[in-house]
Amino acid sequence: MCGIVGYIGPRQAYPIIITGLKRQEYRGYDSTGVALITQEGLQIYKKKGKVQELEDSLIGQSLQSNIGIGHTRWATHGEPNDVNAHPHRSFGGKLAMIHNGIIENFAQLKSELIKKEYSFKSETDTEVLLNFIEDIYIHTGCPLEEAIRIALKRVSGAYVILVLDEDHPDTIIAARKGSPLVIGIGKNEHFLGSDATPMITYTKEVVYVNDYEIAIVKQDELILKNLGNEKQLPYITRLDLELAAIEKGGYPHFMLKEIFEQPTTIFDCLRGRLDAQQGRITMRGIDDNIEALTKAPRFIIIACGTSWHAGLVAEYVIEELCRTPVEVEYASEFRYRNPVIREGDVVIAISQSGETADTLVAIEKAKEQGAFILGIVNVVGSSISRVSQAGAYTHAGPEIGVASTKAFTAQLSVLMMIALRIAREKKSITDEKYLELLHELESVPEKVATVLRNAPALETIANKYAQSSDALFLGRGYNFPIALEGALKLKEISYIHAEGYPAAEMKHGPIALVDEKLPVVFVATKDEHYLKIVSNIQEVKARKGKVIAVASEGDTTIQSMADDVFYVPEANEIMAPLISVVPLQLLAYYMGVARGCDVDKPRNLAKSVTVE
Ligand code: AGP
Repeated sequence: MCGIVGYIGPRQAYPIIITGLKRQEYRGYDSTGVALITQEGLQIYKKKGKVQELEDSLIGQSLQSNIGIGHTRWATHGEPNDVNAHPHRSFGGKLAMIHNGIIENFAQLKSELIKKEYSFKSETDTEVLLNFIEDIYIHTGCPLEEAIRIALKRVSGAYVILVLDEDHPDTIIAARKGSPLVIGIGKNEHFLGSDATPMITYTKEVVYVNDYEIAIVKQDELILKNLGNEKQLPYITRLDLELAAIEKGGYPHFMLKEIFEQPTTIFDCLRGRLDAQQGRITMRGIDDNIEALTKAPRFIIIACGTSWHAGLVAEYVIEELCRTPVEVEYASEFRYRNPVIREGDVVIAISQSGETADTLVAIEKAKEQGAFILGIVNVVGSSISRVSQAGAYTHAGPEIGVASTKAFTAQLSVLMMIALRIAREKKSITDEKYLELLHELESVPEKVATVLRNAPALETIANKYAQSSDALFLGRGYNFPIALEGALKLKEISYIHAEGYPAAEMKHGPIALVDEKLPVVFVATKDEHYLKIVSNIQEVKARKGKVIAVASEGDTTIQSMADDVFYVPEANEIMAPLISVVPLQLLAYYMGVARGCDVDKPRNLAKSVTVE
């Protein structure tokens, strides 16, 4: 997702826009830009990097203008650089546009324009849409708003666009479908933003533009129309949120916002790739290398922290479905060992930030020995994505909270699709199993939404145990890595010493820790290990341990023996990790809040560990 800002009115536009962009950097921050219509005409200033770097680069420039648009980018098409940054200028030079969203049919539109001898400076879908609009505008002679309406009827995907026309410096034209657009109503001025943060210090009267609406915004007039060119009555809302709350979407912390984004981010990760009805998985980075992946004698997964836990889940899934041996390595250890890499080995590097130093160096070490590198990364254009020979982005959007949550479930979603795609190619699973798991994966966003609807129950449990000094997290099979992830979340958010273990391992020592003060969290959803984990729960209860269980809906057995139970929807055991991790994320969050911890910025931690 990206942040967009616009202004038209009696004030200087630039200061309002640049400040508004800073307030929206949580929406994306890999490159940024501003377009203004000044005495000299349409001026565009843009560059890779954060808003502050753009602002520093413009010191001393005359930026006098009463109309402008600005953009802070989260790259989806084309890596972050000066050319791909928004705003884009049209081929004819008189239009400028910013865009938040994805134009899914941009390639087709681009080929039509190339036949008309259009050329392009950037790799973005945005520039294609802008030139498509300009082509209609020039060749039909219709008003710009009409050209935009005609163009958008041809577009599939999601968008918010703001368009400036050098020949009409009194108007901003905006349109939305699928991405947010807010218009602030001032006295003889209007503000535009992806949310209300750019305008909240000037006005609390806002209009939330609806899908398929076009806004013609002048200093003293706001006209809303639908794609059928019918005027819509702007519905003015009075904001009661303060600035800080709006950046977090009304949530108290980014971490909670990102936990609650997961139905959407998992859906976004699957969109355009998973087609359960057609029984198809389409991932260009995988499809282009499917032979190397199906012939790989071994997968070596390297990652750190939460990403390493995703790799551990992938080990179980890939070995089960693809029958290819998998090793999961801490990147920080792999890089200092003298690992044996054999011909055909495929290294899967998993990283949210794409900048983790240990993982980067580990990749280089594996590459030197001839391994094929597949990168699973969230930040487009990041270092790991660039050194990988192929890969898949997780499309989770910017993850601001230091504790990784939505990126983790997005990583799992990508890894599940990769495992299924390879298994299909190798015919290592039956068509029936393949289709069953596609539908299971497709149902995950709704099941996660169900878990989130019951979040208050977790807050109650968290408050009960928030003052504990230690905790154990236990699971078996696919849920064992989830136990580790739950322990890591609790450690890094609440500073409670928590350990994750295979439940069966308790009898080899850790059970000595159990007493009436120790909360033991069991990930005990229905699977092939269920009866065994019930026995483990009884072993803990026999020693007066406090049992918190994540169980499958309707499981009264667990309810009869645990001190606290949180139910999750039933799921195929392979897909269970995507769902059973969510209560553990919430448990850690609420315990951290109960202990007064800074859950978005925990002590001693950084969002991206770019040091050794
Ligand atoms: C996870 O909650 C932590 N913030 C940390 O373990 C993180 O997963 C690890 O540093 C790896 O980061 P990466 O995914 O960006 O490579």
